[in-house]
Amino acid sequence: MFEIYDKKIADLKENFHFRSIKNFERKEGKYIYVAGKKLLNLSSNNYLNFADSEEITKEFLEYAGDKYTFGSASARLLTGTLPIYKELEDLICKLYNSEGTLLFNSGYHANVGINSSLADSSDVIFSDKLNHASIIDGMQLAKGKFFRYAHNDMESLERLLKRERGNYRNAIIVSESVFSMDGDIADLKTLVELKKKYNCILVLDEAHAFGVFGEKGLGVSEKLEIISEVDLLVGTFGKAIGSMGAFVTGKRVLIDYLINKARSFIFSTALPPVNIAFTKWIIEKKLPYTYEKRMRMIDLGKKMGSESHIVPYIVGENDKTVELSEILFQNGYFTLPIRPPTVPVGTSRLRLSLTADITEEDLTKLNEILKGEK
Ligand SMILES: Cc1ncc(COP(=O)(O)O)c(C=O)c1O
Repeated sequence: MFEIYDKKIADLKENFHFRSIKNFERKEGKYIYVAGKKLLNLSSNNYLNFADSEEITKEFLEYAGDKYTFGSASARLLTGTLPIYKELEDLICKLYNSEGTLLFNSGYHANVGINSSLADSSDVIFSDKLNHASIIDGMQLAKGKFFRYAHNDMESLERLLKRERGNYRNAIIVSESVFSMDGDIADLKTLVELKKKYNCILVLDEAHAFGVFGEKGLGVSEKLEIISEVDLLVGTFGKAIGSMGAFVTGKRVLIDYLINKARSFIFSTALPPVNIAFTKWIIEKKLPYTYEKRMRMIDLGKKMGSESHIVPYIVGENDKTVELSEILFQNGYFTLPIRPPTVPVGTSRLRLSLTADITEEDLTKLNEILKGEK
């Protein structure tokens, strides 16, 4: 019975696909300690360094005292909703000037909840080919049909819309704004045009842009001034905000629908109140003072050839990617090899994610190593 799994694991190892959990010794600002080595952490979504800052933790605990507990003990629809949840939802509504907001336990829960529930058997979803696994998992659970258009290719999307839109009652277009593995940015203006032209609902996942792009840190949609055109916008708290959880904000009717139909919302214990309070505190008290830092981080990413703070270095084969990651490790950089199924076969890569305290000088040696690889 168990030999099947042994065999599967052996196959993974043979193809350099095997994953294991690394036990880090500690984190300190932009550095991470592992196997007795201090490394520049280029594999973190802690873009503004709020997550492992002792100073931030201390300041928050001084502010919060013992007001918030560490367990909600219930799903939101049962007894899991205390005032702090509503306060955070109201804050998000105010920032986005939106009709409604719903908190989820993570971005994964949010995307699975939205994409599994919005499309009924008469409906359809059009999804970017490189959308995150949580979006794909959601669509696979949906009763409706889904089509994947070529990555950020608006002609490919329009061809599908022309061919398929008429066959369905409701249509949903879903895209990330900053793509998590490629660091490129969706053509949001055209997405908005197409959603209007073909009468679709637009769902935008700003997981890697919330807390990074825009003057207030609301995402690429803020920067492009198209927030009001997005019907449901997803933001996560586990990345730039340094906390945990996610929100969906937009049309009230869709929020009410999700409260009733998104199973990942309904059937899961709500996040701890202390965590919700921390998220709210960061967004209100810290995020407004990060604009310059954020812009410097994005500029550094652009200098490295990306459109954002996420810089992909595509190697191709799994073994070479693992090897390069090891060379960088030996030279003081922590990067993780990203392999299929996370990225398409043949595009294994190092995903260099910058955080706000990383400087150009920090990356001199890394750039030399990567140049030598070409
Ligand atoms: C684009 C995107 N959406 C959603 C998620 C999931 O968010 P969370 O980590 O909060 O579950 C991720 C996580 O990496 C992501 O990259």
